[in-house]
Amino acid sequence: MNMMRPRASPRGLFDPYYVPDRLLHRDRDLRLLSGVYRDSYESDYGINCLVHGISGVGMTVFSRYFLTKLVPAQFDAHTIYVDAKMKSCTEIVSELTDKIHRLAHRPITVAFDLDVLWMQFKRAARATKRTVFVLDNIDETNEEVYAKLARLSKEIKASTIGVLNSHDYRLLTKGAATHMSYDFEVALDTYTQSQLYDIVRQRVQDTFPFGLTEEVIRYVTDIVLEFDAGRPKSSIEALKALWPLAQSGREVTSDLVRAATAGITTFADEDYTDIIETISMNDFMTLLVLEALSEHLSRHKTETYIDRPTLNELITIKCEELGVRATQEDIERSLQTLVFQSIVFESGYSRDLLYVLVPPEILYDAAVTMRRELLRRR
Ligand SMILES: Nc1ncnc2c1ncn2[C@@H]1O[C@H](COP(=O)(O)OP(=O)(O)OP(=O)(O)O)[C@@H](O)[C@H]1O
Ligand SMILES: [Mg+2]
Repeated sequence: MNMMRPRASPRGLFDPYYVPDRLLHRDRDLRLLSGVYRDSYESDYGINCLVHGISGVGMTVFSRYFLTKLVPAQFDAHTIYVDAKMKSCTEIVSELTDKIHRLAHRPITVAFDLDVLWMQFKRAARATKRTVFVLDNIDETNEEVYAKLARLSKEIKASTIGVLNSHDYRLLTKGAATHMSYDFEVALDTYTQSQLYDIVRQRVQDTFPFGLTEEVIRYVTDIVLEFDAGRPKSSIEALKALWPLAQSGREVTSDLVRAATAGITTFADEDYTDIIETISMNDFMTLLVLEALSEHLSRHKTETYIDRPTLNELITIKCEELGVRATQEDIERSLQTLVFQSIVFESGYSRDLLYVLVPPEILYDAAVTMRRELLRRR
């Protein structure tokens, strides 16, 4: 039964600056940032902070959550956010100048020269009430702007939050010619399996009017965690690809999820027959396990996992049909071979849940062909 969610809007998938109502699993980091900011606010001095983490871990949303939800609720301060990505220093300063003039309701004189713009910005910033600046995506090409902003903030008792990925963080703060001035830093960690799952589920609730099954949400999370270091960005990208299909009423099958995450799994069009051929030379049992598993998954397209008890049952039936004997240990050993060769994967939620990345039909064909070949040779 599908319950339409009236509030769901795809904005949470397509707007890179979207901030969810609740920022999940960042309480400790938010507390740290608010605490430091509160001290500076109450004792009347400026503070500079760097937020960093691996790309896609949620740096932008973290800084924007602080800026758009926490600061307005807790402090009497202006907030200005500028995304520096792919912008020249002039463009960045021009945007800062624009925004501060708008906040202060001051008329702006158009300028195109970096020094003139900076003078205008400085004058306006000095004259307005306390402001928290976020400069997102600092890198080598614009660190100069951040450095100037951080210095100015000390002078005028404003605060800055510089946001940069781990690569640029190392480059700019550990290098010899470092200009980066900051008082403290917030290093954002990658999420655990269950945290990533919560984030994906929350986003599905916010954006899919008809939802997605738990299985699909788990499957997306499993794949992102296994192949992409648990970056929520990749999960949201996958949801973005699934959204039009789910919206048009199509059932989201494992094939569709695989297609939506194909970019992050390194499994391109390798020849699986080769791999299967090598691992299964004379290994009848492994082929049988693979056959049973892939047969089930190709028959049940909305099932993204097969659990071990079901698999055991299917294998037992196959063995009976073929008149072979197999112990539980035989089955387990074969399964471990397939897991070890990255043909079958165990879910991070439970080792009992197994999934594949190659379309199951392909695995099935390969397994059956090889098994017949072995029989013929005997
Ligand atoms: N704790 C969280 N709660 C809810 N959503 C989150 C959380 N962390 C990240 N996200 C979501 O994950 C996606 C990626 O986050 P974000 O764009 O902030 O990453 P980023 O680290 O800035 O990436 P980039 O390297 O591209 O700048 C966004 O849709 C964001 O809303
Ligand atoms: Mg970002």
